[in-house]
Amino acid sequence: MAATALEGRSPAFIYRHTVLVRITHWINVVCITFLLMSGLQIFNAHPALYVGQKSDFDHPVLAMTARNTPDGPVGETTILGHSFDTSGILGMSYYDGVPRARGFPSWITVPSYQDLATGRRWHFFFAWLFFINGAVYLAASLATRHIWRDLVPSWSQIRAIGPTIWHHLKLKFPHEREYNVLQKLTYLTMVAGVLPLVVLTGLTMSPGVNAIVPWLVEVFGGRQTARTIHFICATLIVLFILVHVLLVLVSGVWNNLRSMVTGRYRVDVAGGDHG
Ligand code: HEM
Ligand code: HEM
Repeated sequence: MAATALEGRSPAFIYRHTVLVRITHWINVVCITFLLMSGLQIFNAHPALYVGQKSDFDHPVLAMTARNTPDGPVGETTILGHSFDTSGILGMSYYDGVPRARGFPSWITVPSYQDLATGRRWHFFFAWLFFINGAVYLAASLATRHIWRDLVPSWSQIRAIGPTIWHHLKLKFPHEREYNVLQKLTYLTMVAGVLPLVVLTGLTMSPGVNAIVPWLVEVFGGRQTARTIHFICATLIVLFILVHVLLVLVSGVWNNLRSMVTGRYRVDVAGGDHG
């Protein structure tokens, strides 16, 4: 966050995000969208996850299946042995008006019809873009100390985490120069934890990388475990996005979006309004 008051303008405006953070953020949004949708296409080719080196078909961690019943086709999702009827969304959904046995529905996969080879091509194209974009962000953020300065919370912020949670529950969001402690902790978990892990587990599954660094697959306890962790990371990313976008919307949508596009952010001044 390059937080300098804009000269000649209202002192209530600051520069919140550097041009690098803004550009890499929006490239990231495009990459994640295509990675998720093409990843779900890949998942649909075999909609079940396992732990270990090999697929133990009798003991999946997660499985999506379809079966015919006297009342029509049914979709079922099984997580750790517990089954749920997910007809119409998971296991069985409609495409061109016809019921199909498929893990995730057509509206959330790229391409929409079942085609593993094309899904893989999209996935690997955006994986490279995501990797390069993330590497540029990390290298620059370490060099400029952005991560340390803006994403690692201070002790005083951590001690005041209770009141911050309480403010969030009451939907009160002060507009300050710094991210609040909850933002810092979640952003840090994403940029230093979940996003690097999704890259590493993705590389672990790639046969080319396997040949160069064979021990990577051992680190994750086998190919199937890497695939399951990759999927769990994707799920965490989706949960993050839902909460992240919801908070962007309720905490001053235009102020937030403007700051992530132009860098300009309106902070609260004593007795001032909340933008
Ligand atoms: C550099 C980043 C990434 C790399 C190298 C990568 C690589 C891979 C590979 C190799 C596969 C298995 C392909 C196959 O079996 O044919 C895969 C599957 C998948 N990826 Fe990624 N991926 C990356 C990022 C992501 C991200 C950011 C997401 C989600 C937001 C994601 C979601 C998925 C999903 C849902 C699957 C399907 C799981 C499966 O059935 O194997 N990937 N990815
Ligand atoms: C349409 C979707 C998205 C919107 C509208 C959005 C919007 C924003 C905005 C407005 C901020 C600045 C928050 C502030 O100034 O208080 C921000 C920061 C951030 N967003 Fe997003 N975002 C989106 C998707 C994503 C995705 C997909 C990711 C990663 C998976 C992500 C990760 C981050 C991170 C890590 C930051 C902090 C950046 C830093 O300072 O280094 N966002 N986002």
